[in-house]
Amino acid sequence: MADDQATLSLGGKDQGFPVRHGSVGPDVIDIRKLYAQTGAFTYDPGFTSTAACESAITYIDGDEGILLHRGYPIDQLAEKSTFMEVSYLLLNGELPSKGELERFTYTISRHTMLHEQLSTFYRGFRRDAHPMAIMCGVVGALSAFYHDSTDITDPQQRMIASHRLIAKMPTIAAMAYKYSIGQPFVYPQNSLTYTGNFLRMTFGVPAEPYEVNPVVEQAMRTIFILHADHEQNASTSTVRLAGSSGANPFACIAAGIACLWGPAHGGANEAALNMLREIGRPERIPEFIARAKDKDDPFRLMGFGHRVYKNYDPRAKVMQKIAEQVLGELGVDDPVFDVARELEQIALHDDYFIEKKLYPNVDFYSGVVLSAIGFPTSMFTALFALARTVGWVAQWNEMISDPEQKIGRPRQLYTGATQRDYVPVEQR
Ligand code: ACO
Repeated sequence: MADDQATLSLGGKDQGFPVRHGSVGPDVIDIRKLYAQTGAFTYDPGFTSTAACESAITYIDGDEGILLHRGYPIDQLAEKSTFMEVSYLLLNGELPSKGELERFTYTISRHTMLHEQLSTFYRGFRRDAHPMAIMCGVVGALSAFYHDSTDITDPQQRMIASHRLIAKMPTIAAMAYKYSIGQPFVYPQNSLTYTGNFLRMTFGVPAEPYEVNPVVEQAMRTIFILHADHEQNASTSTVRLAGSSGANPFACIAAGIACLWGPAHGGANEAALNMLREIGRPERIPEFIARAKDKDDPFRLMGFGHRVYKNYDPRAKVMQKIAEQVLGELGVDDPVFDVARELEQIALHDDYFIEKKLYPNVDFYSGVVLSAIGFPTSMFTALFALARTVGWVAQWNEMISDPEQKIGRPRQLYTGATQRDYVPVEQR
C-alpha cells in the first residue's frame, strides 16, 4: 500500500517517492526508482536504515524489546510451544492443527538420516576442526547428494529441501561433535523428540542406553525456539542474497552458516562464555567494564549490545531463567554464572551502557547453559546454526515466492583511482 509520498530535493529538483506502511513498525520509503529518476544512490553501509525486502515472518521492536514470530510473542512460544510447532509456524504462517503438527513432525523425522557416504566427509577433516567449519562444508555438500530437491522453481522440491535441512541439521551438528572427540557417530532415533534425538546423538554412545533428561530436553527445546528466527539479521540476509541468484537451498544455508560464525553474530555466545571465564571472579568485573568503555581498547562486553534491540533482548530474559533451571537441575555450581549475573547488574547501572542502550542479548546467558549441559564452547555456534536453519529456510522460501524478488546487487560510493593508462612494468 503506498498512499504517501516522500520528497527528495536534489540538484534543484523535487522528486517524489512512495512511502509504504507495514502492518506494524516504521514506514519505508520506496526508493527503487531513485537511481533512474536522479542518477544518485543511497549510502547505507551496514544497512542501518535499509529494508532489503518485504517479509511477514518476524517482527522486532528494538526499542520496546519485542520479538514476534508470525505475530506470536517469543516468550509465549518459548513457554508453551515445541520447536516443531514453531518451525511449522515460521514456514507456513499459522500454528498447526493437531493433525498438521503430527504430519509435520512425522515428515521431519523421516529425513533425519544423512546419506551414508556423507560420513566419509567428516573423516577428511582434522579432529580439531571447528564444528562450524565442518557445518559449512557438510551442509554445502548436501547439494551434491540431494539433487531431487534443488530445483528452486518447484515449490514441492523447495519444501522437501526445507524439511531435509531442518531434519538433518541436528544429525550434522551431533556428528561434528562426535568426530571431534573420536566417538562413533550415533544414528538418529525417530521415536524421540527433535531435541531428545539431538541430545542422544550428541551425548549417547552405542555401548549404553541413553536417557534423555527432561529438564535438559526442555531447556534445549527453548534454546532452539529462541534462536529459530530473527528477521533480517546478517546470516539471514546472507541466505537471501545467496538465494537471490538462484543458488540451491543447501548452498544458501551453507552461506548463512559462514556468516553466523563471526563473533559479532552467532560466534558471540562462544566469545561471551570465554570472556566470563577470563573474568573468572566478580572482583575483576570493574577492570573489564573499564576496558569495554575505553575507546582505545578494542575489547567489548560480549553478549551485550544489539543492532536492533535498544532494550533488554526478550530472548535474554528467557535464557536467564533457563540458566537457573538447568544449573539447579544438574547441580552445577558454576562461578561463571555468578560473574554473569553480577556483570549484568553492574553494566545495567553504568552510565556508559545506559546512554548507549546496551543490554544483554540472547548470547549472554546461553553459553552458561550450554556449558552446564556439557557442550564445549566450540559447539555453541553450531547449535545456533542448527536452530536458525528453520528461520533461514522460511525466509528463503518467502523470498523465492515473492514476485518482486530480484538478484541482490548493491552499488557503491567509488573512491578509487579514476581512469588512467597502463604503464609497462619497466617504466614504473
Ligand atoms: N561493549 C562495549 N561497548 C559497546 C558494545 C559492547 N558490547 N556494543 C556496542 N558498544 C558501543 C560501541 O563502542 C559504540 O560506541 P560509540 O558510539 O562511542 O562508538 C556504540 O556502542 C554503538 O556500537 P556499534 O558497534 O556502532 O553498534 P552496532 O549496532 O554496529 O553493533 C553489535 C551491534 C555488533 C551486536 C555490538 O553491540 C557488539 O559488538 N556486541 C558484542 C558482540 C555480541 O554480543 N554480538 C551478538 C549480537 S546478537 C546475535 O547475533 C544473536
